[in-house]
Amino acid sequence: MAEALIVRNLSRRFGGLRAVQDLSFSVNEGETVALIGPNGAGKTTSFNLITGYHRPNAGSIAAFGRELVGLRPHAICAHGLARTFQVARPFGKMTVLANVMTGAFLHDRTMDGAREKAHEAIDFVGLSAKEHLPARDLTTIDQRRLEMARALATQPRLLLLDEVMAGLNPAEIDQAVALIERLSQRGLTIVIVEHVMRAIMAVARIIVVLDHGQKIAEGKPEEVMANAEVIRAYLGTGFVHGAVSGAAQC
Ligand SMILES: Nc1ncnc2c1ncn2[C@@H]1O[C@H](COP(=O)(O)OP(=O)(O)O)[C@@H](O)[C@H]1O
Ligand SMILES: [Mg+2]
Repeated sequence: MAEALIVRNLSRRFGGLRAVQDLSFSVNEGETVALIGPNGAGKTTSFNLITGYHRPNAGSIAAFGRELVGLRPHAICAHGLARTFQVARPFGKMTVLANVMTGAFLHDRTMDGAREKAHEAIDFVGLSAKEHLPARDLTTIDQRRLEMARALATQPRLLLLDEVMAGLNPAEIDQAVALIERLSQRGLTIVIVEHVMRAIMAVARIIVVLDHGQKIAEGKPEEVMANAEVIRAYLGTGFVHGAVSGAAQC
C-alpha cells in the first residue's frame, strides 16, 4: 500500500520547550491513524508542522511523494492536505455556505463551481438546513460540522482532524464517528487527534501515542490500550477497568 504521509525525525522547540521530539510515523493511503496523548503532548504542534503553520527545527514530512517542509499552508492545502482547528475559527458573521465556499475556492475559482462544491460538503456533514445561518449562531456540534465541511470543500486526499469531538454528547459523538467512517469509506486518508477513546477505537487502524513530544507507543488499538507505558502516561490505570481516569474520555 502506498504511503500518503511519512513523518521522519520531526522536532520543534518553542524556546527551551521541546514540543515535538524526533517524531516518526507514517500513514498509508486510505488508512485512518490516531494521534493521542495527554494535553501538551505535541499533537496540535505536529498538525501545525505537517500543514505548514510552523516550521520544524529538524526532520522531514512527505505527503503523496512530495516534501512539505518549507511550503506555505496554502500550498500544502493545494497539495491535498486539509485540517480542522482545535478551536474552531469560522468567519462568524458570514453564513455557513460562505464559510465553506472559502475552502472550495482553492480548486474552483468560479462562484457557481465553488458553491456546488460547498453544497456537497455541507450536505455530506448534514448542515444543509443551516447553510444560510451566520456561523456564529451554530451550536458546538454544528461548528465542528462546519470545520469539517470547510476542510472537505478543499477536496483533500488527507484530512487532519484536531479534537473534532470535544464538547459533544454521546449521541453526537456517534454521529461524528459515522461521518468519519463515511469519509474513510470514500477512500480519504485521515489523521485524527482525539481524547474520546471509544471513537478512536472505532475509527483508527493504528494509534500513535505522544507524551512530552515523544512517541511512546504505536500499534493496533488493542495493543496500544494494553501498553503499560501508555496507561501510565495517558489512560490512567482506571481505564483498563472501564472507569474514566487520566485525560482520556471514553
Ligand atoms: N506557538 C507556541 N508557542 C509556544 N509554545 C507552544 C506553542 N504551541 C504549542 N506550544 C507548547 O508546546 C507544547 C505542545 O502543545 P500542543 O502541541 O498544543 O499539545 P497538544 O495538542 O498535544 O495538547 C505545550 O507545552 C504547548 O504549551
Ligand atoms: Mg491540541
